[in-house]
Amino acid sequence: MAQYVRGPSAVAIIRLRNPPVNALSFTVIEALEDGLKRATADPSVKAVVICGENGKFSAGVDIHTFSSAEETRRAGLPAFISVIESTEKPVVAAIEGIALGGGLEVTLGCHYRVAHVQARLGLPEVTLGLLPAAQGSQRLPRLIGLPAALDMITTGKHIPAAEALKLGLVDEVVEGDTVEAAIRLANKVIGQPLAPRRLSLRTVPSLPNADAVFSQALARVKKQAPGYMAPEFCIRAVRAAMELPFAEGLLKERELFTVLLTSGQARALQYAFFAERAVDKWTTPWGTSWKSASPQPIRRAAVLGLGTMGQGIVISLARANIPVVALEQDQEHLDKGRKAVVAVLEREASKMKKGTRAPDFHDPARLQFTLDFKALRDVDLVIEAVFENMALKKEIFRKLSEICKPSAFLCSNTSALSIDEIASATRRPEQVIGTHFFAPAHIMRLLEIIYGRQTSPTTIATAVRLAKTLKKVGVVVGNCHGFVGNRMMFPYGEQAVFLLEEGSTPEAVDKVIEDFGFKVGPFRMSDLSGLDVGWSSRKEQGLTGASVPPGTPARQRGGRRYSPLPDILCEKGRFGQKTGQGWYQYEKAGGRTPKPDPWFHNFLAEYRATHHIKTRFIDQEEILERCLFPLINEGFKILGEGIASGPEHIDVIYLNGYGWPRHVGGPMLYASTVGLPRLLEKLQKYSEAHPDVPSLQPSAFLRKLVAVGNPPLKEWMSYAGQQRNKL
Ligand code: 3HC
Ligand code: NAI
Repeated sequence: MAQYVRGPSAVAIIRLRNPPVNALSFTVIEALEDGLKRATADPSVKAVVICGENGKFSAGVDIHTFSSAEETRRAGLPAFISVIESTEKPVVAAIEGIALGGGLEVTLGCHYRVAHVQARLGLPEVTLGLLPAAQGSQRLPRLIGLPAALDMITTGKHIPAAEALKLGLVDEVVEGDTVEAAIRLANKVIGQPLAPRRLSLRTVPSLPNADAVFSQALARVKKQAPGYMAPEFCIRAVRAAMELPFAEGLLKERELFTVLLTSGQARALQYAFFAERAVDKWTTPWGTSWKSASPQPIRRAAVLGLGTMGQGIVISLARANIPVVALEQDQEHLDKGRKAVVAVLEREASKMKKGTRAPDFHDPARLQFTLDFKALRDVDLVIEAVFENMALKKEIFRKLSEICKPSAFLCSNTSALSIDEIASATRRPEQVIGTHFFAPAHIMRLLEIIYGRQTSPTTIATAVRLAKTLKKVGVVVGNCHGFVGNRMMFPYGEQAVFLLEEGSTPEAVDKVIEDFGFKVGPFRMSDLSGLDVGWSSRKEQGLTGASVPPGTPARQRGGRRYSPLPDILCEKGRFGQKTGQGWYQYEKAGGRTPKPDPWFHNFLAEYRATHHIKTRFIDQEEILERCLFPLINEGFKILGEGIASGPEHIDVIYLNGYGWPRHVGGPMLYASTVGLPRLLEKLQKYSEAHPDVPSLQPSAFLRKLVAVGNPPLKEWMSYAGQQRNKL
């Protein structure tokens, strides 16, 4: 847990040992304390170096131990950090790999810090819904000043060693052996006074505009994540460092931490941390899983179609140093795509560190643009990103299956079409898989990986590995219309429009959803992504309803309620931001600031009158529940059918691809917070009031979970049993 090494020199080494990341569990902290006690008691020891095993200092407190305030108190880390500082022998931290959270806080108790050039340092507690509570919020500002400390603590970012040196966070950065360098430094400082090195004896460097710095930081965090408590609490803790003596500041730090620790937000964020690390562990309803699958290497890839998505996918592959062949249908599209891709890559390369050789994106061995299908002969994997049209996709996959080498994997970026049907056009359905990137593909982290009936475990594992290589979060799901993310979105969007018909406004609905924590509500989002996208796909399927005659029954299709409002707006050329008008109005086509549109409000009133819809006031609670509960209900259907391997998988999709507020954990965790019996009761109520809306009818799986006594989220899948056979 912590190894005490007493070498021939006067420097004792205490080595943290808790693989894989040297997390500070109770036992590790106890062993550290024991090591330090031995070093102080041994008169031949003149200085101490604390380092970590396996090239890592420490990733901080073991996140599993945050389940209760009592456990954290017992951990005693803050008190131990005071002990380090008060030691009468110099203590030097040798930082390799990572020093994060409690790990960095331990180094702040040390008198000196030496970091390896590749080390990263940070206080990421805020990303877990917490604040640095092992004295970090009080020590860091004393060491690096208010603005830099506020920035690190409220963003949780990891900074490289070179930046840490500039900020004064470390004393030395070395390229060679960090422990050796720390021993050298320790030997050098033996006998020097320690008081100037004790951060608790310092004050935060004064700043004439400190108030302005705090208010700007507050405004920034409120804007970035409304309703998210931890960043605001971090600011309050740093303020205490500025205004209070050290000991009182520590009390404030603890008080604020305790409130955060017992909040639902910290629970949700820690759940999200582990959920993102658990999604690699996929299973399919027919018994295959991550355990039995090994990925194949991807040495060269191809992308078909260089539109919005293809461009982003090529950029992601090139960034990950995977040579890419990019293919288009004609010269004009090829040139346009090439220009856009190379512009982004070169812009990024120009920001690279001085002295680093920028990759040559004009080198065809790295990035080849072509119209020739034969150029795809040798690639290991192809990602198709042409128009969303089944006939076109099948034709392309037929061709790919003939041209590509037999071992090549064939992926489609389709957002909703059946992977099985696409695969049926090939002679290798076991190597066909959906890789659903999110726009913009070079920025968004989510990759939905969709297996079909015949997709092999090797193909799934290869796509999962590809996601990792591209630094994305890959979530494996089954094949159904819209897969997981978009399928759950359909009822959400549908309800938002029904609410308008019944008496609400785009402004009211968006506000409720944004107050909940989404960056943009459904109508602002629809204007942003363009109403025409859904319209053209509905037209293709013969599903538009603009021409339905007036009268309530006419707003139903096949016994199911249907609102033609989005179709009517599209017929009027109101596609959203791109045309300057949609659910809102904008200053011009391409404008970004939505304003309420009196035309739309009048139109809505006429529409309701034409269709004899009686309007009523709809309160915030109903807006929230009507939008979110059917989305969650669809999630339960997905779990019951075995389309997702578990609730965490759905939550990771929503956190990384749909802007679900992270501090609320994802739709399925939110369902467990609301309580399944309450969710069921509400869905039943709304479904009785709107019997022609199937998405409000509670799913069988939700009913089952309530019937078996509302088990905790972790146990849900053990009840999915027989229902997981519908794929
Ligand atoms: N506690 C417990 N487990 C941890 C952990 C921690 N602090 N940090 C990482 N792990 C586990 C992961 O869950 C994972 O376990 P698994 O293999 O069983 O899934 C394993 O370590 C490896 O982690 P990653 O898969 O994330 O490996 P990477 O190499 O991609 O990333 C990392 C390593 C950058 C350290 C990343 O794991 C990370 O960011 N960890 C969290 C760091 C953090 O937030 N620390 C603050 C803790 S709170 C604190 O210290 C409070 C104090 O102020 C009182
Ligand atoms: P797009 O219309 O921007 O680009 C499609 C590109 O494919 C065009 O450049 C076109 O010239 C090219 N193309 C068409 N036929 C071709 C052929 N035979 N050979 C080579 N290239 C050909 O479309 P977009 O938005 O990039 O979408 C592509 C796919 O990604 C679709 O299946 C879509 O559903 C999906 N998708 C789109 C998202 C979005 O937000 N735009 C998000 C996620 C998935």
